[in-house]
Amino acid sequence: MAPSSMTFASLALLLLLLGSTSAHLTPDFYAKSCPKLFSTVKPVVQAAIAKEKRMGASLLRLVFHDCFVQGCDASILLDDTPTFRGEKTAAPNNNSVRGFDVIDKIKAAVEKVCPGVVSCADILEITARDSVVILGGPFWEVKLGRRDSTTASFSLANQNIPPPTSSLSNLINKFAAQGLSTKDMVALSGAHTIGKARCINFRNRIYNETDINSAFAKKRQANCPKTAGSGDNNLAPLDVQTPTYFDNDYYQNLIHKEGLLHSDQVLYNGGSTDFQVKTYSISPGSFYHDFVVGMINIADINPLTGSKGEIRKNCRRVN
Ligand code: HEM
Ligand SMILES: *[C@@H]1O[C@H](CO)[C@@H](O)[C@H](O)[C@H]1NC(C)=O
Ligand SMILES: *[C@@H]1O[C@H](CO)[C@@H](O)[C@H](O)[C@H]1NC(C)=O
Repeated sequence: MAPSSMTFASLALLLLLLGSTSAHLTPDFYAKSCPKLFSTVKPVVQAAIAKEKRMGASLLRLVFHDCFVQGCDASILLDDTPTFRGEKTAAPNNNSVRGFDVIDKIKAAVEKVCPGVVSCADILEITARDSVVILGGPFWEVKLGRRDSTTASFSLANQNIPPPTSSLSNLINKFAAQGLSTKDMVALSGAHTIGKARCINFRNRIYNETDINSAFAKKRQANCPKTAGSGDNNLAPLDVQTPTYFDNDYYQNLIHKEGLLHSDQVLYNGGSTDFQVKTYSISPGSFYHDFVVGMINIADINPLTGSKGEIRKNCRRVN
């Protein structure tokens, strides 16, 4: 083979490979089969957030915990049964992930207007986008066409979702394992500009760590007792400034050494990601831009398309 035609052949192959990763996901996937999809989902999300602001955060988080485990296939939504172990009691999820009844409500509303058409995996992505927009964050077009898994993985949920004790290199590696860049990781961590965490996840940070603002540590200690086992589920906002508004305050907090989780503060403690944190802390526009890119990338992880998987009737169980 002549060098020039070899180059052409490998270029063609490369284009084919690039195209195949998300070839079947497209924003207008349901344009004909469910034209009222977006207008059906949004009011239900709106009502849930009007009732409880934190719910927007909880709904956004579901995408992360779904997509990092077998891809974006709604595996996180499957309930445990006596003969089926799902992901809901895996360490990162147990007593922590929430919003399942809101997803049920959205699914029921969507089933009413177009029965058997829209996947739970796609509903999770639209719901996360709507939540961010309702809480004041950026809009992006969600790609669609995912199908739902018939399986879940308790062990991959434990393995793939990084714990809040993670070092910077652990975080970088866990995101790289999903095909996400360090830049995506830092931008997506900005999701912690909304929502809450439990004392058990930040106790060591507020009592034992040194790269923390001492007034901030004291403030958090008031509702998170030092003794292991007491007040484990007491909640504190991840963003000390505006916990129900999707802005760039999270990064300003890191600069002030007011990250709540160890895994938050490692993004700004003298390491390779300091510059990116600084940029986002002064430029909400650059945070919004990169967060949207990150959300599109995370939503592209290993979707089931074509005839793989199924369209669940009820998000909590396989058909
Ligand atoms: C970078 C690695 C990450 C780690 C180690 C991490 C860890 C955590 C932890 C420990 C909590 C508190 C859970 C609890 O105490 O019950 C939390 C909450 C949350 N996380 Fe993350 N997270 C990470 C990335 C992400 C990403 C990529 C997103 C979404 C794009 C996200 C969205 C959220 C949200 C919105 C909350 C608040 C949820 C609520 O209030 O219900 N996190 N995260
Ligand atoms: C999940 O949390 C419940 C309630 O705290 C606990 O009883 C159960 O053992 C936990 N499950 C797992 C698998 O750790
Ligand atoms: C502080 O660190 C010590 C030594 O690692 C540990 O034994 C202790 O439980 C930690 N304290 C808190 C409140 O996490």
